[in-house]
Amino acid sequence: MNALPPASRIEELRRGSRRPALAPAPPGAVSLAMGEPDFPTPPPVVEAAVAALRDGNTHYADQKGLAELRAALASRLPAHPGRTWTADDVVVTHGATAALAAVVLAMVGPGDRVVVPEPAYSLYADLVVLAGGTVDFVPLAPDLHWDLDALAAALPGAAMMIFSNPSNPTGIVHRAQELDALGRLLDGSDTLVVSDEAYHRLVYPGHVLTSALEVASLRDRTVYVQTFSKTYAMTGWRVGYLTGPREVVDAAARVHRTHNGSLNTAVQHAALAALDLPDGAVDAMVDRYRRRRELVVAQLSGVPGLHLIPPEGAFYGFLRYDAGPPSETVVRELAERKVMVRAGSEYGPSGEGHVRISFAASESDLRTGLARIVRHLGGGRS
Ligand SMILES: Cc1ncc(COP(=O)(O)O)c(C=O)c1O
Repeated sequence: MNALPPASRIEELRRGSRRPALAPAPPGAVSLAMGEPDFPTPPPVVEAAVAALRDGNTHYADQKGLAELRAALASRLPAHPGRTWTADDVVVTHGATAALAAVVLAMVGPGDRVVVPEPAYSLYADLVVLAGGTVDFVPLAPDLHWDLDALAAALPGAAMMIFSNPSNPTGIVHRAQELDALGRLLDGSDTLVVSDEAYHRLVYPGHVLTSALEVASLRDRTVYVQTFSKTYAMTGWRVGYLTGPREVVDAAARVHRTHNGSLNTAVQHAALAALDLPDGAVDAMVDRYRRRRELVVAQLSGVPGLHLIPPEGAFYGFLRYDAGPPSETVVRELAERKVMVRAGSEYGPSGEGHVRISFAASESDLRTGLARIVRHLGGGRS
């Protein structure tokens, strides 16, 4: 048999992708690399899944998601000026990953340009390549907020812009004024905005998250992507959802049902239980992240050669270092010193010279890992 080359688009994805295959942490290493909560899924959610299985919820569900779950999600969506959401506006997806894939594959075609302010979550660029579109990376401003002048230059003619807020990997929360300015830049255009708000519950004191859905100037062009993964420590359950303009939601639902079919029925019952958790269950986790964030800021501030913009949301610190080597080399060197982090270059060209530190890790791992980072990278140019 001859060689079996994959489709050319997959070759392109393989060549261009910045997403690394994740290596397991070597013995004795602490991992500050993972973007997933270290807390267990709250027990009532687990119990609800078990009960749902025992009750016979073991067959296909509605392809857009259980109507009861979609209605519950619709009633909790951020307020959208001039519009009320119903179950028909929501598609339940295999995590935010499949929500993002569905909207990109539904709305981006060959030749379409997609603006991605970077550094950005690396999935976005790969999805655009998979859809045959072109990624237009627009560097963030030095404070890691949007560079609105650069966006004004890039946006005309773009099919879509994708971002996360709060941001992975920068830990920045894009403010209401930034979102409104974006909406005004797009006035009169057909550019769709995809706002991935996976970390919406993780916002630190002094910062406020305004959902893109709440911003009048973005009202008619925003696709909102959400997930249970981070808020409820449910990364392995694979539940996400999206909403937005009805024709986009319908097109994304078509892609999702073609690629994925319906989501696990019992898992959707568990998701309903997550929505019913008392506020305190999520607040307790948020409080722990807040204390870890303080630890990161305290341990990395004032160290010569290191520069950290204090995280405003999510659970990442995006650390700039003065020492010379590229971030992939620094990540290897740090792994040899038994601390795992992610290379800034994974998130776009401007991520070079940075490493991403996740504080979804125990306080003791954080202390150890941060000390190892400071020992290796502190002290300036080597
Ligand atoms: C910004 C952002 N969006 C989406 C995802 C994927 O979430 P899910 O587990 O729901 O697929 C992640 C995971 O790290 C993320 O950081």
